[in-house]
Amino acid sequence: MHSKKHFIANWKMNGLIKDLNHISRVSDYLKKIKKNDFNCTFCLPYTLLGLAKSRFDLKKINLGAQNFSVQDINSGPYTGSISINMLKDLKCKYVIIGHSELRAKGETNLIIKTKIKYALEKNLKIILCVGENLMQYKANKSFQIVKNQLKLVLPKNKKDLRNITIAYEPIWSIGTGIIPQNKYLNNFFNKISYYLKKDFKFSISLLYGGSVSSKNIKQFVNINKCNGFLIGGASLKSKNFIDIIKKYYN
Ligand code: PGA
Repeated sequence: MHSKKHFIANWKMNGLIKDLNHISRVSDYLKKIKKNDFNCTFCLPYTLLGLAKSRFDLKKINLGAQNFSVQDINSGPYTGSISINMLKDLKCKYVIIGHSELRAKGETNLIIKTKIKYALEKNLKIILCVGENLMQYKANKSFQIVKNQLKLVLPKNKKDLRNITIAYEPIWSIGTGIIPQNKYLNNFFNKISYYLKKDFKFSISLLYGGSVSSKNIKQFVNINKCNGFLIGGASLKSKNFIDIIKKYYN
């Protein structure tokens, strides 16, 4: 199960047209190595998705979005909003939901639940982000927080759960260069995976996100239940992103 690892780039509010060259280089690298036991996905700003769709071989690189509006699943009079149907049209395969940067701006579990429903209806795969803040981590509340974030939004049936991947992203690790210790992560992933099996009767694929780089990627090889990574800053330059993949496997 979950044999394919995921390397998912989250470009956030970064990237101009010229920066698509970085994806070209990743794509060339993937063609060259002919390895097919991992997936590469680029979650781009809306402005680049259409261009990326026409430029890249989407058999090698998946496209993903970082957000969409819950006002309507298809279309409507909502100035400045993007619907999940529009993302589908752009051949997005994945969408990030519940990122802490959006939760901090008021995205509630109810909104997250609606987004999950919309994405499932349109057959997009979901990268559901969960994670605790530093205070909660220090108070030993990480598991309780994450378990609650999952409990409040996850659907119960297997058909839907199959389209969801969970990215554990401790907020205190995002963009800080600080990553949790191996022992902590192994224990945490084991606990989450046990909880999901017990309460949802399903083993959902688990990713880690937060300051992943080519310098620390080796550490994650030993996290048994970790099926891949959501990578922010280090995904913007092809060299860094390719180095992460190379170092993970060598
Ligand atoms: P980071 O971001 O790799 O820059 O820490 C990860 C994320 O927020 O998804």
